[in-house]
Amino acid sequence: MVVTKKDLLGARDSIDKILDEKNCGPFFVRLAWHDSGPHDASIKDPWPAAGGADGSIRFSAELEHGANAGLSGAVKLLEPVKEAFPAVSYADIYQMASARAIELAGGPTIDMKYGRLDTSSPDECPKEGNLPDAEAGPEGKFGGAGGTKSTEDKTGEGHLRKVFYRMGLDDEAIVALSGAHTFGRAYKDRSGLGAEKTKFTDGSKQMRADGKEASYTPGGSSWTEKWLIFDNSYFTTMPDEGADPELLKLTSDKVVFTDEGFKPFAEKFRDSQDDFFESYKKAHKALSELGSKFEPEEGITL
Ligand code: HEM
Repeated sequence: MVVTKKDLLGARDSIDKILDEKNCGPFFVRLAWHDSGPHDASIKDPWPAAGGADGSIRFSAELEHGANAGLSGAVKLLEPVKEAFPAVSYADIYQMASARAIELAGGPTIDMKYGRLDTSSPDECPKEGNLPDAEAGPEGKFGGAGGTKSTEDKTGEGHLRKVFYRMGLDDEAIVALSGAHTFGRAYKDRSGLGAEKTKFTDGSKQMRADGKEASYTPGGSSWTEKWLIFDNSYFTTMPDEGADPELLKLTSDKVVFTDEGFKPFAEKFRDSQDDFFESYKKAHKALSELGSKFEPEEGITL
């Protein structure tokens, strides 16, 4: 089935409605990143051997990876979009849902292209363990229930570089993409790293970028106070010693401000939201296309 611009625009409208009703944007950003992030740029065998943004995360073989705890809920939320627009691949739906979530939450417009092909069988899922450990470090524990703990890299920054360099991304992209934690929460029953709830996630008021008050399922810990708005508050909050102690700071977040290679970018993004958005949109586009095969080859823009 060949996808058309009309199908993609229809899918986009449906996604926008889900985002408006459920305020689940961060969940979709995590889903899309966990579909593309296992990509291994060193694998040169024919597609889809290197893994990437290819819809493979819809298969339970991959959803059951420890780092993907909870993401079956995001797959389910997007199933009606696939039913209504069957010509649009899962890979496109997941990446579109993520980009729209960021745009509608006040983030940058990402120069997306579509036409990704889907993997067709669970045999094509990547191996477990390619996504980063949130708590890698000397006393680290793995950031996804039941996942594999990295034993080779004893520092958070070494671990992050190993994982993101494998995808073909650089230090600037690592820092920019870490800024996606301006958005969303970590949950006790998913990664195990969030609190039951905090004063920012207990069901009390959360504003959206359009000025509306959002309703959401209470629970978890957020990195920032306004966790449904995509801005540079991750970079202002993480280094702030006086930040509310109920806000989350993972080992992987802390190293962004301590490592000599990462720090200049983190400080730049703290000081200028425009600079953050410029770097973020480039890094996000690259992330959304890791290991993707497009038909037509040049992709379809909307
Ligand atoms: C740098 C390495 C990273 C680590 C160690 C990491 C770790 C985590 C962890 C442990 C959670 C909590 C999951 C849960 O309990 O539900 C989480 C959530 C999240 N992550 Fe990351 N992450 C990383 C990079 C990224 C990247 C590159 C993106 C996207 C560009 C991203 C986007 C998100 C979002 C939006 C959430 C919130 C999900 C929600 O609210 O449901 N993360 N991350």
